Amino acid sequence: MKGIILAGGTGSRLHPITQATSKQLLPVYDKPMIYYPLSVLMLAGITEILLISTPEDLPSFRRLLGAGEQFGLNIEYALQYQPNGLAEAFVIGRRFVGDSPVALILGDNLFHGPGFSGVLEQAKSDLDGCVLFGYRVKDAHRYGVAEVDAAGNLLSLEEKPARPRSDRAVTGLYFYDNDVLDIAASLKPSARGELEITDVNRRYLQQHRARMVDLGRGFAWLDTGTHDSLLEAGQFVRVIEDRTGVRIACVEEIALRMGYIDAAHCHALGEKLAKSSYGEYVMSVAESMSVAP
Ligand code: G1P
Repeated sequence: MKGIILAGGTGSRLHPITQATSKQLLPVYDKPMIYYPLSVLMLAGITEILLISTPEDLPSFRRLLGAGEQFGLNIEYALQYQPNGLAEAFVIGRRFVGDSPVALILGDNLFHGPGFSGVLEQAKSDLDGCVLFGYRVKDAHRYGVAEVDAAGNLLSLEEKPARPRSDRAVTGLYFYDNDVLDIAASLKPSARGELEITDVNRRYLQQHRARMVDLGRGFAWLDTGTHDSLLEAGQFVRVIEDRTGVRIACVEEIALRMGYIDAAHCHALGEKLAKSSYGEYVMSVAESMSVAP
């Protein structure tokens, strides 16, 4: 499976912070926001990744992540000139995706929860059509909303409905089979002029090939769309990391644990960042793994 991270948009809801930088490069406590979705794809076992951003911001992502080989990844880049909707990722990424299944993750979505890599692996191996990931929220009207029956079957999908039929938001992580390329290519722009991801998902739903995995109560799906939610996401990460001593979305650690890089290489990555506590952490993880049996 290949992966696409969509990190476009103008970040207008966070102006003036995002006037001179990409929203997805803003810090969420100790690391750039993009590390969080990147780590999700890595945990899903995905190493071939396309990062889509704007002409202004793409060079900064390239400076941060390069071709990805330092993390055992292969990262390619593509431009989205205008915010024409999330589903445009599959028009832009068509050549990259080729004949593979593909995961799309939004560059501003932050997931944290127990057994997440197992959840992702399972969803990947069960994939027949599309898999969406649902999460209960109190303000569902701000998101794509899924209606699900008692047996867990998807009944309807709506984009930011004024009166949501349920409190289940569709999070910004989507797994698709290769049909998504043709579905996206055949979409018409919505009333707001965008190729809507919800329209893609509805197509799968009509074919009875859309499934929803519920991210349960112990899970955190955090928003970074407003000044308050961005700060809260940073506070959340800080509290968990401070309490446990384990960093969330540390891409060097994940690369090591997934077997994409070895301990010596991980240690060298940490040394380059050694003046920060993040770098010290990366080195300490590498040291503990190199003595582990
Ligand atoms: C997009 C999707 C929406 C989804 C949300 C998750 O909305 O259109 O269905 O629930 O991402 O973050 P946006 O945040 O682009 O308005």
